[in-house]
Amino acid sequence: MNKITKLFNIKYPIIQGGMIWNSGYKLASAVSNAGGLGLIGAGSMYPEVLREHIQKCKKATGKPFGVNIPMLYPNIEEIMNIVIDEGVKIVFTSAGNPKTWTSFLKEKGITVVHVVSSSVFALKAQEAGVDAIVAEGFEAGGHNGRDETTTLTLIPMVKEKIQIPIIAAGGIATGRGMLAAMILGADGVQVGSRFAASLESSSHDNFKQKIVDVKEGDTQLTLKELAPVRLIKNKFYNDVQDLYEKCPSKEDLVQLLGRARAKKGMFEGDLEEGELEIGQIAGLIHEILPVKQIVQEMMTDFEIACQEKSKFEF
Ligand SMILES: Cc1cc2nc3c(=O)[nH]c(=O)nc-3n(C[C@H](O)[C@H](O)[C@H](O)COP(=O)(O)O)c2cc1C
Repeated sequence: MNKITKLFNIKYPIIQGGMIWNSGYKLASAVSNAGGLGLIGAGSMYPEVLREHIQKCKKATGKPFGVNIPMLYPNIEEIMNIVIDEGVKIVFTSAGNPKTWTSFLKEKGITVVHVVSSSVFALKAQEAGVDAIVAEGFEAGGHNGRDETTTLTLIPMVKEKIQIPIIAAGGIATGRGMLAAMILGADGVQVGSRFAASLESSSHDNFKQKIVDVKEGDTQLTLKELAPVRLIKNKFYNDVQDLYEKCPSKEDLVQLLGRARAKKGMFEGDLEEGELEIGQIAGLIHEILPVKQIVQEMMTDFEIACQEKSKFEF
């Protein structure tokens, strides 16, 4: 038992990050059943779709699970009310100010975690009263901080500033990565990319296969003027780069991005025109596996790495 397994009442300190178009109830319940904490990603769901996923998740697992809520959507109030209505016990908020919803959720007895990419925001989240924070480094898939702070440097800097439990995210897909993050000061890890390429992820098979095919250097953080996001370098990414050469305005970028690019890429499997969000660690993901096997492999790797102390005797 450690701070994170105790906080969520789970077996292993492995959290599956909420991921638009990837983490429906099938992925979340599979991770929870495997001993981690699964999160339904509300970011790509209409409120009633979210309600359905929560209800299905309750049926699919008797273990704790949570909901990830990016706070930038206009229907946020409706989403929060569904979460309360359905008796969700754990909420991870991201992409917004932790002060806006934390006390509301805490008053309802919900465990609240907020995702940050800097120690300044980690402090703000702690002040807002969250139970733990996810500190997410530059390597991570999906939306990211502007400062390009890597997980290796972010975790110890956050650790220096705050007292509440820290969950490290960004670049972690193995037990060794997990141990490294924990040695740096994390109490648990949030894993996204590795679970995006699982059998239970709701993303399109084309996207999952693309993750497996991605090599080191095939992703890049871009669109910083809108919301920085790490993408696979495909045709859409190249179109963005071509536009940058013309010194575009923010409106030009918004226009190129258009609507539903992420859905097109990750859910509908359009590898050319779609937005394909994945982390740098995709270069280490070589197979689409069931969640149970991913978690077991991570824990075996973690145990083996823990026993390799003699490596550090000089
Ligand atoms: C495809 C994809 C979609 C994501 N969507 C979200 C999201 O909706 N909300 C959120 O807070 N984080 C999102 N993330 C970030 C993950 O929750 C997680 O923190 C991150 O993937 C960890 O880094 P890793 O990809 O190196 O494992 C997303 C990541 C990926 C890869």
